[in-house]
Amino acid sequence: MIKVTSEVKTITQMTRDLPGPLALIPTMGALHEGHLALIRRARQLVGPNGTVAISIFVNPIQFDRTSDLANYPRPLKSDLALCEKEGVDLAFTPEKEFLYHSDHSVIITESLLCKGLCGSSRPGHFDGVLTVIIKLFNLLQPTLAIFGEKDFQQIALIRRMVRDLNIPVEIVGHPTVRELDGLALSSRNIRLTQEYRKDAPRIQRALSAASDLAINGEQNPAAYLLSAKKHLLANAPDGFFIEYLELIDAESMQAVSLITKPAVLATACYYGEIRLIDHVKILTG
Ligand code: PAF
Repeated sequence: MIKVTSEVKTITQMTRDLPGPLALIPTMGALHEGHLALIRRARQLVGPNGTVAISIFVNPIQFDRTSDLANYPRPLKSDLALCEKEGVDLAFTPEKEFLYHSDHSVIITESLLCKGLCGSSRPGHFDGVLTVIIKLFNLLQPTLAIFGEKDFQQIALIRRMVRDLNIPVEIVGHPTVRELDGLALSSRNIRLTQEYRKDAPRIQRALSAASDLAINGEQNPAAYLLSAKKHLLANAPDGFFIEYLELIDAESMQAVSLITKPAVLATACYYGEIRLIDHVKILTG
C-alpha cells in the first residue's frame, strides 16, 4: 500500500498514471465495518487491476462544535493497518496545512438541499464537506467515489455538486451497515458510555416502528413524526434528546404535507455530547 501525505504534483501525477479505474473512499478515519464494506465494494467495482484509494482526514472546517472536533477519534496507525489488511492500494492522509492554506477563502456552498436536517442544525457543516470533497476529487481524480448512505443528506449534496459543477466522477452510495442490534455504524459509537451504547438502538427501532405506518398507506407526515417521537422518548436515559426529527421528500429534501412520493424520516439525537443520525425510507402504496 502506498501512503501519501502531501505533494500535490506527486499524488495527482501518480493517480493519473495508474492504468485502471480509481475508486476513492473519503473518510475521517476511526474505520469500522461500515468503512470496510465500502473498501470491499470499491474493489468489486474497480476489479483486481484498478486502484482502491482511501483518504483519512478529520476535516476541521466541517465541524460546528470545537469539542466534537477535539474529541473526534484519530487512531491513524490502526486505521492504516486495517487498510493494508483489506487490500487498499493508496492511503491519502494529508495534514491540515497541506489541504488548507492559512488564508484559504474559497468554499463550496449548496443552497437548496442543505436547508433542513443536518444542514440547518449544523450551520456551515455541508460547506465544509463539499469543499473538502472537491479538493479530494481534484487531487486524486477518481473514476468513482463511494459514500455510506447513512449520511443520506451528505450524499445527496455531493451528487448535486457533481451534477451542477460537471465533475467527472461517479458517485456510488452504499447501504447503511448496522450492528446486530440495529444501531447504524458510526465512528462516534465508540464514544458512547456503556449505558448509552445499550440504549442507542432505540433510534433505529423508533424510525422502523414509525415506518410501519406505511403498511396501511398512512400519508400524513404528522402520524409518522408522532410515532417516532413517542418511541424515541419513551423511558429514554438522562442526557438523551432529539436534535431534529423530520419527514421530507426523498428527492427535493423539502418537508411534505402529504406523502405521495418516496419520503425519508430522519433524525439526529444526542446521548450527552455524542450526536447520532439515522433515517428510514417511507414508501406508501
Ligand atoms: O462522512 C464523512 O466521513 C465525512 O463527512 C467526509 C465525507 C469524509 C468528508 O470529510
